[in-house]
Amino acid sequence: MISQQSIQVIQSRIDIIDIIGTFIKLKKRGANYLGNCPFHNEKSPSFTVSPTKEIYKCFGCGKSGNTISFLMEHEKYSYVESLRWLANKYNIELEETETSPEFKAIQLTSDSLFIINNFAKDFFRNVLMNTDEGNDIALSYLKERGFRQDIIDKFQLGYNPSAKDDFAKAAIVGQYNNDLLLKTGLVVSRDEKLQDNYRGRIIFPIHNQSGKILGFGARIIKSNDKSPKYINTPENEIYVKSKILYGSYFARTAIDKSDECLLVEGYTDVVSLHQAGIENVVASGGTSLTPDQLRLIKKYTKNLTIIYDGDSAGIKAALRGLDLALEEGLDVKLVLIPDKEDPDSYVNKIGAAAFIDFVKKNKKDFILFQLEIALQDAGNDSSKKSVVVNQIADTISRINKTEEFTRRQDYIKQVAEMLRIEESGFNALVNKIIRDKIVKEESKNFKDELNLPPESFVEPNPDTDSLFNKDDLHEQAMVRSLIEFGLKDWEDGKLVADHILGQLDDLDLHEMIDNPKITNIISIYREWYSAGNQPTAKSFLYHDDAEVSNFIIKVMDVNTDISPNWKGHYKGHISTREELYKEEVISTFNYLQLRKIKRLMNENQQALEKATDQDQQILFMQTHQLLKKMESEITSKSGTVIYK
Ligand code: UTP
Ligand code: MN
Repeated sequence: MISQQSIQVIQSRIDIIDIIGTFIKLKKRGANYLGNCPFHNEKSPSFTVSPTKEIYKCFGCGKSGNTISFLMEHEKYSYVESLRWLANKYNIELEETETSPEFKAIQLTSDSLFIINNFAKDFFRNVLMNTDEGNDIALSYLKERGFRQDIIDKFQLGYNPSAKDDFAKAAIVGQYNNDLLLKTGLVVSRDEKLQDNYRGRIIFPIHNQSGKILGFGARIIKSNDKSPKYINTPENEIYVKSKILYGSYFARTAIDKSDECLLVEGYTDVVSLHQAGIENVVASGGTSLTPDQLRLIKKYTKNLTIIYDGDSAGIKAALRGLDLALEEGLDVKLVLIPDKEDPDSYVNKIGAAAFIDFVKKNKKDFILFQLEIALQDAGNDSSKKSVVVNQIADTISRINKTEEFTRRQDYIKQVAEMLRIEESGFNALVNKIIRDKIVKEESKNFKDELNLPPESFVEPNPDTDSLFNKDDLHEQAMVRSLIEFGLKDWEDGKLVADHILGQLDDLDLHEMIDNPKITNIISIYREWYSAGNQPTAKSFLYHDDAEVSNFIIKVMDVNTDISPNWKGHYKGHISTREELYKEEVISTFNYLQLRKIKRLMNENQQALEKATDQDQQILFMQTHQLLKKMESEITSKSGTVIYK
């Protein structure tokens, strides 16, 4: 168990923009940050993060939460794993209340793998920089290839000595667990002894998006026919090849800025381009792009530029995965590096400026490029040509989102020209493929419906449903005013909280407010406040009771700023909620009071209808008059806003 104190330290350090920004691209919009929602597919961003309120809300799919729930949802961490992740991120030492043997046993394998990898990285770096062998063999090799020291440091390159078990011995001294060591792939077991797996190799650590080491690529120094050029970490709990893009940790901000991601094949390509100042670059490791990798790229940008060497075998493999990129709405361009060069050697040869220029001038559209290659292959063979026509029509049919209609028609026109066929006929062919796919998809969905509810089935959510209930809206407004404005001035030295809590004494509270979640929160507030605390939204945000924190997140308003457009058009001053807080409190109270009066009137009316005794009837009628008077007094007051 992590101690309460540690949890509080973590909570006080959380920077929601920094954390969520690790996983998705956020842009500042007024007081908030906006990005594409990672929880549903969207074209225009509706995922809003409020740094001051420390919450996120998606206005598209309705998902909302705090930093911890984001990690739980997005990274599929448990609550405790999220805390550990944050503690690690902010270098906070966790105080464990008890570390039972069982606890140690279930401590995540992945945590340990990260720890071992980090230890290994330090070991390899030390060997590279501070030993004769490292200097003479590895560092000199890297320098000869032109890598600068600052870049070697940035990418944390290292060297595994050529002796059979230097690293293994150090790991044993460090008391790392054998099974876990084997899992990392850093060692292998020979004759029941651990031996180094990457002997005599340059080590490229592979980082995840937050900079932790998932595994390594180990490059041989002297080429040798018997052993492979690179050995990579085997698949394990943290190294999942299909999800890794080498360099993504270092490329993130640059991809953001340029709104483009360059994709190369190799580790050295990434490092060299960085050295040349081109930092928006990642590597796929020479295989075709996987859906997970595409999704990772799409989180940052929709513009993907693939830079491969022209004669590379990898290029065909890379192209294979790309139909999927089209479906994901990525705009893919291709740049071929000339004659036996790769991006690494080419940038070293011609320099950074010329390289950037070359990329700009040689960007080819991926679809048209594919067609070019296919046409070359087909030559004059007309049956091969008709296969090409069908293939390219299929590729284009994948651009089938409504908003991409113009893009698709553009392709149809260009391709028809290149193929020298009728545009209308080709258009019809593409449309037929799209229709066929839809029919197929629909019949599949229909079958699915008969068996299982589809995955996207949304359970009715009482919390969001209640947003459409205006009674509940006003009750929520009450609690929101209390939490957001409670510590602001009311009048005569009293604060808003004094006013609200005074009006809603314990008895009245349950008569004025129906929603038990809201009365509960107000009671908690009262308890804290009367004990001398100064409760804010943050006090509730990480409340032990998830129901409480979830509710607070739901009612909190992240969209308090006025759209910049509006501001531009409107010369005068526009008041914000912050400025109008007194009016908001008064108007909310008025509404709830009116509601209470209406209810009393109804009860009174029913009692009147049942009453037989004349005195009683008179009493009920007087009560009715009184209630009527109270009602008109409230409605005649200004500032009564009723939510529609
Ligand atoms: P390259 O052979 O192009 O290597 O393989 P490179 O990165 O350019 O290295 P240098 O410049 O020759 O030193 C491209 C990528 O394919 C993967 C690696 O990720 C490599 O960076 N690869 C290649 C392997 O995983 N294993 C191999 O044996 C070879
Ligand atoms: Mn190379």
